[in-house]
Amino acid sequence: MENTITSEAVSAMSTLPLKTGIVDLWTLSTDSLTLADEIRMRALLSDEELTVVDKCRRVGERRSRLLGRALLRTVLTRYTGISPTLLQFSRSEFGKPALADPELGVAFNLSHTDDKVVCAFSRECNLGVDIEHIRYRKELLNIMDGYMSIAEKCRITGEPWPKQQKVFFDHWVLKESFVKATGDGLTQPLDQVEFHKLSGSQFEFRPVIHGKRTRWRSWLWPIDELHRLSITIDRSMRRRVMFRGFYVLPCQLCNG
Ligand SMILES: CC(C)(COP(=O)(O)OP(=O)(O)OC[C@H]1O[C@@H](n2cnc3c(N)ncnc32)[C@H](O)[C@@H]1OP(=O)(O)O)[C@@H](O)C(=O)NCCC(=O)NCCS
Repeated sequence: MENTITSEAVSAMSTLPLKTGIVDLWTLSTDSLTLADEIRMRALLSDEELTVVDKCRRVGERRSRLLGRALLRTVLTRYTGISPTLLQFSRSEFGKPALADPELGVAFNLSHTDDKVVCAFSRECNLGVDIEHIRYRKELLNIMDGYMSIAEKCRITGEPWPKQQKVFFDHWVLKESFVKATGDGLTQPLDQVEFHKLSGSQFEFRPVIHGKRTRWRSWLWPIDELHRLSITIDRSMRRRVMFRGFYVLPCQLCNG
């Protein structure tokens, strides 16, 4: 089937082939995280990662950052055969992480909210992923300048309240996955690029000025009423993309 996302409950984490033409999306919720899980996960992280985790003031952020890196390391082990603690990472100029050894041939990106973590993996292409928790706060609409194009702002503000908030987060999560795919972060002027719906959950980004398609295409899914997930991938990946979805529990990460 074309461009579908399938869900599989993963009861035990075993070796997994990452095939071409497939993007794997792994999600994890912090809800059932226990102190014992936290201790086991900390043992997987490097000192540098633990320093970042321990600097987080909010409990939710600390837990999801810990889970994010633990999920990343555990899943990469399934694809590469390298033990989680031995995996080495590099960062691009603007902070995008990658495996230090490109020969391993796995591209990834990760995102967290205070209660969920998602990691995306592909053999073939660069990608970016973002997850957002819809928060009902009116002031969010005041921060659109610089991030949304004129057409996007009209689309958002043209909706009645409270749908406006959901449409705002649909735009936000798409743009975040885009900046995370390019790796340029907020150094690129986001109000100069806008997305257009292609079909169903699929979108493409075009510059506002000449409107020609860019090399990026994106997907947007509502995970549930309060969460949005978006992934942006390079068009160099073949036209038909299959998404595989995996949902794991924190206790399965360390016991699998
Ligand atoms: C990377 C960035 C784009 C997203 O950060 P965020 O939404 O706060 O956080 P997320 O949880 O989605 O992603 C964080 C992860 O992205 C990855 N990341 C960091 N820099 C990245 C970059 N330049 N490109 C891609 N991925 C990056 C890392 O894996 C990081 O987690 P880790 O440090 O634990 O490994 C960040 O540059 C940022 O500052 N965002 C601000 C939000 C904003 O103004 N967005 C405008 C959208 S309209």
